[in-house]
Amino acid sequence: MNLSLQEKDRKYLWHPYTQMKDYAHRDLLVIDHAEGNYLYDEHGRRYFDTISSWWCILHGHNHPTMREFVSRQLEKLDQVLLAGTSHEPAILLAEKLVKLTSAPLSKVFFSDNGSTACEVALKMSLQYWRHQGLSAKNRFISLERGYHGDTIGTMSLGGVPEFHQEFKSILFSSFSLPSPHCYRCPMQRERGNCDLDCLNPLETLLIEKSEQIAAFILEPLLQAAGGMRMYPPAYLAGAARLAKKYNIHLILDEVATGFGRTGKMFAHQYADIVPDFLCLSKGLTGGMLAMGATLTNDKVYDAFYADYGENKTFYHGHTFTGNPLAAAAALGSLQVFADEQPLVHIQETIPHLHQRMKQFAGLEWVGDVRCLGMICALELVKDKKTREEFSFTDRVGWKIYLKGLEKGLILRPMGNAVYLWLPLSTSKEEIDEITELTYQVVADPDNIVGRGG
Ligand SMILES: Cc1ncc(COP(=O)(O)O)c(C=O)c1O
Repeated sequence: MNLSLQEKDRKYLWHPYTQMKDYAHRDLLVIDHAEGNYLYDEHGRRYFDTISSWWCILHGHNHPTMREFVSRQLEKLDQVLLAGTSHEPAILLAEKLVKLTSAPLSKVFFSDNGSTACEVALKMSLQYWRHQGLSAKNRFISLERGYHGDTIGTMSLGGVPEFHQEFKSILFSSFSLPSPHCYRCPMQRERGNCDLDCLNPLETLLIEKSEQIAAFILEPLLQAAGGMRMYPPAYLAGAARLAKKYNIHLILDEVATGFGRTGKMFAHQYADIVPDFLCLSKGLTGGMLAMGATLTNDKVYDAFYADYGENKTFYHGHTFTGNPLAAAAALGSLQVFADEQPLVHIQETIPHLHQRMKQFAGLEWVGDVRCLGMICALELVKDKKTREEFSFTDRVGWKIYLKGLEKGLILRPMGNAVYLWLPLSTSKEEIDEITELTYQVVADPDNIVGRGG
């Protein structure tokens, strides 16, 4: 019997972050091809990729420049290990990344994805302190609602119970600080009218325990998977100052925010700081192929540079570390940045997007509208006054996701946050269309738990 694609999907595939039973009687969207900012399903229906295919697509899909870089590379070299051998795309990409970021970031370590980019930073930090004779510095600080990946190490520093609680028994312990989310300020202050009291728990912890702490890892300005929570650059600047003062590393996870999405090349540039480790992935290859990169400084690198017998090698690597095709895609994406200047263009697009998002604030169940560059989120609430949250099991996003598909949008709310995470290549006209369609979905009480008739 010939099975359809849908039937084969159900029979053979197990999808990530998906309750497969949701699709027991419902077809998954099978994407056939992509063009620019649009995805097309097997029946030729068009969808705007409003979440940039899990936050990685920058210049639209299949950008011709990037395709050319990858196809040219495919003619020469598909894969070679990066231990003991090297290759031009990895070398040139490392050079470009160092030039793109600020001094003193000077060395690039490649890996496979965002989780590994963060995992590498954690391991480097830990080993660095051992090499300094400070092996007691072996614990980490992270934020509630933070997300750094799905490996055991990064989950140990994750603060999203919905994702991590099942694995708690095997995760290592760390120090967790309140999320500096302004809409739900942990210090009960109002947005824009506070003294950054939310930094106090960090300083208190560092005063007491800095000799046990290797590093503080956080996502700059935006806790994405934790619910699109946003916080001001001043918090980040304060965290960087305290990290320096108490001699711990600052690890910035720019896996999601890197490469222009926030309006600057990197989100940490809003705070005018430089981390000890910068973790990159997703937009690194313009979203075309999987790759991670961890940047650090000479001080860290030099602590590992020793005679072999001293056993200071950084023993970490993946089969596809620095894969030539992925590196070529990344070089292609950086070429698009140079040729088309998306960072200049979005300076006009961003205010237009933010303006359009204001219409959502009037809705009874929209508690907060927040935007950072090409990313905008609506936090849906049961009660606007009390800011009462929908619970995890309300699945407030599910209906919105399904209705979005009907309107040709791929919306994929994170818990109570409905968001747009737009490619840099999105035009003002497209923004008008997307925000209008999203409004139709979110404004319809039938799509909101407990509001429909
Ligand atoms: C901030 C952040 N860090 C790390 C990761 C993990 O990246 P990956 O899914 O490529 O392992 C993600 C993924 O969404 C992320 O948003």
